Amino acid sequence: MTDTAPILSIQNLKTSVTSGGDTFNVVRGVSLDLYPNEVLCLVGESGCGKTITALSIMRLLPDPPVRIQGGSIEYRGRDLTELSDKEIQQVRSSQISMIFQDPLTSLDPVFTVGHVITEIIRNHLDISKEEARARGIKMFAEVGLPDPERRFDTYPHQLSGGMRQRVMIALALVLDPDILIADEPTTALDVTVQAQILEKLLEEQRERSMSMLLITHDLAVVAAVADRVAVMYAGEIVEEAPVDELFSSPKHPYTQGLLRALPQVGYKRDKLESISGLVPPPQMMPPGCYFAPRCPHALEACWDEHPELTEKEGSRVRCLNPQPFVA
Ligand SMILES: Nc1ncnc2c1ncn2[C@@H]1O[C@H](COP(=O)(O)OP(=O)(O)OP(=O)(O)O)[C@@H](O)[C@H]1O
Ligand SMILES: [Mg+2]
Repeated sequence: MTDTAPILSIQNLKTSVTSGGDTFNVVRGVSLDLYPNEVLCLVGESGCGKTITALSIMRLLPDPPVRIQGGSIEYRGRDLTELSDKEIQQVRSSQISMIFQDPLTSLDPVFTVGHVITEIIRNHLDISKEEARARGIKMFAEVGLPDPERRFDTYPHQLSGGMRQRVMIALALVLDPDILIADEPTTALDVTVQAQILEKLLEEQRERSMSMLLITHDLAVVAAVADRVAVMYAGEIVEEAPVDELFSSPKHPYTQGLLRALPQVGYKRDKLESISGLVPPPQMMPPGCYFAPRCPHALEACWDEHPELTEKEGSRVRCLNPQPFVA
């Protein structure tokens, strides 16, 4: 995988939030490559900055209060952080698309789903309304929206959650992007529908040879679908590895904690373990390793020295004192 050039390369991305007169970074130097044709899963506990990283790539941050402070996001020789609003709009949908957890909040209630897909198509392609309609219906059919011709003229609230997410996938894919970013795409859905939607996403990823950045809390999903995994903690990547390596030999104590907390994936445990302690608030990050306050293996140096991401046995890990994994 890594002998080809990345299609998207994030270097030292810093994104801040301003709140109560204070500005502090919530994404603290994320560096991450996405390769052609791969599924890269981004995991990490709530609030660690996964969504803000994704929205930074798409330049969809609610600014203010959230703003990119530094770093670069290179895509096809251009730095997305430097594009004008007009230029980034051209990239969105046609080259990089995103789907969100809750399709109802990302679909405008006043427009029919057919109107929305027609607009996306016609904003990027010089084709007639009729052609755009035909293309939209075909796309709705492809993502498994039942009776797509009739559904074309319905409003989002008239559809079930699963159907709405199929509509979102259709909107994201209709211009055949290189990259799909899916942020918890199945979390808001019924369990039975979750698997179908995920299967559809992966089918599309394979058929289109698209790259997918999949943000998920579900490590069972990661084990099943990822090529590579990046683990985020407190606004930075702490470990990145091919999926088999990550599950068989996690190196960062935070990743090890996540896996120990997992009942499936081959670890037989009587009860769930969770990682004790809390993430420090973003305004009060310790000077050394951000995980040191929760780490069972922290050395003296870990409190003073902020570790770099370092190559180790096919993984990249941000830890001064990595330990072998005992499940
Ligand atoms: N609009 C906003 N205003 C203020 N703070 C924000 C805003 N959006 C995000 N944050 C803060 O930025 C940090 C990162 O949030 P983010 O949504 O990226 O987390 P996440 O990893 O996606 O979490 P989750 O798994 O719960 O979706 C959090 O501390 C969050 O409170
Ligand atoms: Mg999120």
